[in-house]
Amino acid sequence: MITEKETVLVTGGAGFIGSHTTVALQEAGYRVLILDNLCNSDVAVLDAIAEITGEAPGFIEGDIRDRALLDEVFANHRIDAVMHFAGLKAVGESSAEPLSYYDNNVNGSLQLLQAMQRASVRTIVFSSSATVYGEPQSLPLTESHPRSATNPYGHTKLVVEEMLESLHASEAGWRVARLRYFNPIGAHGSGRIGEAPQGTPNNLLPYVAQVATGRRTEVQVFGADYDTPDGTGVRDYIHVLDLADGHVAALAYCRRTHNELLTVNLGTGKGHSVLEMIAAFEQASGKQVPYKIVARRPGDIAQCWADTEKAYRLLGWRASRTLSEMCEDAWRWEQSRGGVEAAGK
Ligand code: NAD
Ligand code: UD1
Repeated sequence: MITEKETVLVTGGAGFIGSHTTVALQEAGYRVLILDNLCNSDVAVLDAIAEITGEAPGFIEGDIRDRALLDEVFANHRIDAVMHFAGLKAVGESSAEPLSYYDNNVNGSLQLLQAMQRASVRTIVFSSSATVYGEPQSLPLTESHPRSATNPYGHTKLVVEEMLESLHASEAGWRVARLRYFNPIGAHGSGRIGEAPQGTPNNLLPYVAQVATGRRTEVQVFGADYDTPDGTGVRDYIHVLDLADGHVAALAYCRRTHNELLTVNLGTGKGHSVLEMIAAFEQASGKQVPYKIVARRPGDIAQCWADTEKAYRLLGWRASRTLSEMCEDAWRWEQSRGGVEAAGK
C-alpha cells in the first residue's frame, strides 16, 4: 500500500478498461484524474465510479491532442504517473479512416509524451494489444514473439510501442510499461460499469450479450473451418477486473524500479473457441443464443493465447476470475443497461 496519495492521470478513463482501472486504482489508494473527450463514452460513468468506490475521480473533458490543455493539466495538478488508454480501437474503421487512427492514437500519444516531458512526469503505463503479434508463429505468445501489423489500428499500437522504446532509451528516468491486452470482457460485479459499444458491436462478447437479451437475432460465427478443436476461432478472454488489477501491479512495479521498460502480456493463458463462449454465455444467462456459421472475417487469425509467466514473475500478477464470472458479470451489466440503450436509439 502507498502511504501518501499519489495522483494518476488516466487518459480515456471514462471508457471500458479505463473506468474499471480507475476503480482499481482508487481502491489501491491512488487519487485519479481522468482526461477524456467522451468520443466513445458517457459522462455518467463518473457517477457510477463514485458509487462503487465512494470517491468521485477528478474529471477533465478534453482531448489528448490539445497541447495547451495538456500543459494546463500538468501545471495545475501534481501528477505522479499517467495511464494512457485514450484512443480509437475499431479494426474495421481503422482501415476505412486510417488518418483518424494515426491522429488519435499516434499523434495523441506523441502530444501526451511531449507534455509529460515538459512537465518532468516520466512514468507511463500504455494500453497495447496482442494485435502487435500478428499471425502467431508459435503458442503461447511470449513477449519476444516477432511483431507485425495487418491493419492501421495494429500499426498505431506498434508505432507507439516503438516511440516509447526510443524515448526510454534517450533519457534517464523514464519508467514505461507496455501492457499487451488479450481479449478483455466482463464488467464490474455491481452492474454499474461495463462495455457500451455504440451501434453494432465488433467484438464477440458484446454481440453475444445483445443476442441473449433479444436485441439482436443471432450471432454470426465467423468461420468454422479453422485448424482448432471445433473449427471456430480461439482467443484468450480475460476479465476486465483482472486486467485492471494488472495495471495496478504494473504501476507498483514501475514505482519500485528506475529506468524500467516493462513489456508484458495481460491474458489468462487459456484459449476458448467461439462456440465455447456462446455455450458459457447461455449457461450464465439462462438464455438461448442462436447462431449461424458464416464466412471467415478477413484479417482474423485462427487462435491465440498468452504466455503469462513474465507477468507473474515480474508483477506477481495472474488473472484469477473464471469464464463463468466473466459471462455472469457481462450479463448483469447488459441487463442493467438494457432500458438506457433502448431509450437512446
Ligand atoms: P474505449 O473506447 O471504451 O475507451 C477509450 C476512451 O478514450 C473513451 O472513453 C474515449 O472517449 C477516449 N478517447 C478516445 N480518443 C481520445 C482522445 N483523442 N482524447 C481523449 N480521450 C479520447 O476503449 P477500451 O476498450 O477501454 O480501450 C482502451 C485502450 O485499450 C485503447 O487504447 C485500446 O486500443 C486498448 N485495447 C483495447 C482492447 C479491447 O479489447 N477493448 C484490446 C487491446 C487494447
Ligand atoms: C479483435 C481485433 C483485435 C483487437 C481485439 C480486442 C479484429 C480483426 N481484431 O480481435 O485487433 O485487439 O479485437 O479488441 O477485429 N467472432 C464471431 N462473430 C462475431 C464477432 C467475433 O465469430 O460477431 C469471432 C472472431 O472471428 C474471433 C472471436 O470471435 O474468432 C473473437 O473476436 P473479437 O471479439 O472481434 O476479437 P479478436 O478477433 O481477437
